[in-house]
Amino acid sequence: MESLNGKVAIVTGGSRGIGLAIARALVADGARVAITGKSAAHLSAARPLIEKAGPGAVETLQADVRRYDEVERAIDATVTRFGGLDILINNAGIGIFADVADMTPAQWSEVIDTNLTGVFFTCHAAIPRMRRRGGGFIINISSLAGKSAFPTAAAYCATKSGLNAFSEALMQEVRYDNIRVSYVMPGSVATGFMGGDESKGADWKVSSDEVAAVVVNLLRHPARSLPSRVELRPTKPPRK
Ligand SMILES: NC(=O)c1ccc[n+]([C@@H]2O[C@H](COP(=O)([O-])OP(=O)(O)OC[C@H]3O[C@@H](n4cnc5c(N)ncnc54)[C@H](OP(=O)(O)O)[C@@H]3O)[C@@H](O)[C@H]2O)c1
Repeated sequence: MESLNGKVAIVTGGSRGIGLAIARALVADGARVAITGKSAAHLSAARPLIEKAGPGAVETLQADVRRYDEVERAIDATVTRFGGLDILINNAGIGIFADVADMTPAQWSEVIDTNLTGVFFTCHAAIPRMRRRGGGFIINISSLAGKSAFPTAAAYCATKSGLNAFSEALMQEVRYDNIRVSYVMPGSVATGFMGGDESKGADWKVSSDEVAAVVVNLLRHPARSLPSRVELRPTKPPRK
């Protein structure tokens, strides 16, 4: 895609943090964007922030990625509102951090269902629409935690490692339908992830806008080649 002007995108978890920054960047580049999230209040708060970014139209859709019926409804609503679907950004994600011995089965399922099954759900619903359109672009927001595991993060790391493998398999399945698949693996990003303080470490962490810039660059990359995996880390994290 050389220009995002008039393209239609859906960003899961677009009401806060990295997803919000991606939605703003896409709109600033002329795309029409639907964002999803669980909280209606967060979606309402995000709308004016995205509209301020540029001329593209914005739709907000309450949809939990863990529920296939809600995901399908959100994809349908995006297609109905904007006439098609070109770009799917799988960004919605959570982390619950505890040792395996202490994590409850319900917590385990919540992380897997959101970060991994949710991505399958959106791709499953979106790919037929993209095929009908003649192509598209799917970008999955993974994490460096998918490559470098650490204690208390078995569930989170497993989902992101799984998402990397999922992305690579999918990329090979749909490439001849002109659907491009990439995944981005950020290190620490300054957001309110899991109730964290957005301002803490903001002087050295990757910013949400920098992740969004990578996403826009991927979308605009010449079609002959595909940067299928991007690792994005803070340039100078505190020395250990
Ligand atoms: N922050 C980091 O350091 C970092 C580093 C690497 C990768 N990542 C990844 O980047 C992505 C975004 O992280 P973030 O830091 O921006 O998180 P965040 O600030 O907590 O925002 C998460 C977003 O996802 C939405 N969401 C959560 N569960 C959902 C569900 N079941 N269905 C639909 N939407 C849901 C939230 O909506 P509600 O407000 O409605 O819940 C919110 O809009 C995640 O996949 C995360 O794993 C983050």
